[in-house]
Amino acid sequence: MIHSRIAGTGSYLPAKVLTNADLEQIVETSDDWIQSRTGIRQRHIAADDELGSDLALHASKAAIAAAGIDAADIGLIIVATTTPDMIFPSTACALQAKLGVAGCPAFDVQAVCSGFVYALATADLYVRAGHCKHALVVGAEVYSRILDWTDRGTCVLFGDGAGAVVLSAAEEPGILGARLHADGAHLGILSVPGQVRNGVVTGSPFVTMEGNAVFRFAVRVLADVVDELLPACNLTRADIDWLIPHQANVRIIEATAKRLGMPMDKVVVTVGMHGNTSAASIPLALDCAVRDGRIQRGHRVILAGVGGGFTWGAVVVRW
Ligand code: ACO
Repeated sequence: MIHSRIAGTGSYLPAKVLTNADLEQIVETSDDWIQSRTGIRQRHIAADDELGSDLALHASKAAIAAAGIDAADIGLIIVATTTPDMIFPSTACALQAKLGVAGCPAFDVQAVCSGFVYALATADLYVRAGHCKHALVVGAEVYSRILDWTDRGTCVLFGDGAGAVVLSAAEEPGILGARLHADGAHLGILSVPGQVRNGVVTGSPFVTMEGNAVFRFAVRVLADVVDELLPACNLTRADIDWLIPHQANVRIIEATAKRLGMPMDKVVVTVGMHGNTSAASIPLALDCAVRDGRIQRGHRVILAGVGGGFTWGAVVVRW
């Protein structure tokens, strides 16, 4: 029987840092308001000539090196992104070209902030079915391009970045289980509603959000999907060493941990350093906790995402 396990992780944040103090110069806000409501201290912003596929390339190279393989060994590329380089072709195809490889399937997944969890669950099925030995799974975003920098309700929340993993065929299980969900009835509470029609954008091309509705929905479904997935994997909450939730907002993370009865010292929190990077947030946090030594071999880690759609899901990993 073929299993899949994460063989290497990588991440990348663009060089430019935008602090809360910098934002005070752009909109009417304060470091105190942003930190107390969200836990965010700073976010990274891509350079004008940097595309999502460039961020993805840096993160992918680090993950490929950590896995000890060559780019040519990759048999599948999935990029989770809400901010693709262009309408088409996919950012995954652009990344493939930048990696200098050709031939393997490459496609994007659009599930907003749940995108990485969706992509990892998909790659797991692909690897376990024997279709490839190594899959590259990436979350990459340039959210700064879809923010209205005059709207203090949204522009303070997000940032740019990328995270990646190499998922490899293995004899022992690494991915223990996954659950994905969506409910399109909640499409309106978090969206970029603009449409490209006949050469013009109709409707807003910027993130619009009902903050309080998003908050309540996120906390409920993050906790629910963890509680749904654990028994399906014959695990209990006590078996989990690390929770890595989507890094939207420290208050959503704390409320989720509380609902799950999980102490915050078992929760990886990186949102303060990079804001909400949507599909990149979970692999960024994962790479951080792997590289600083918190996540050790044998640990059980649960990744839980929620995002526009609404979409949500979780994956349990044995390291
Ligand atoms: N700086 C200062 N004041 C602000 C700012 C800002 N950046 N933004 C809003 N305010 C003001 C509002 O105008 C309002 O003023 P008023 O009372 O005079 O009308 C006041 O602050 C309170 O506004 P609320 O929206 O009620 O503030 P709340 O405490 O609910 O916090 C927040 C807003 C942080 C957006 C919260 O609703 C939240 O965390 N929601 C979750 C949203 C989120 O994380 N989205 C990320 C994308 S979703 C995802 O990734 C799944």
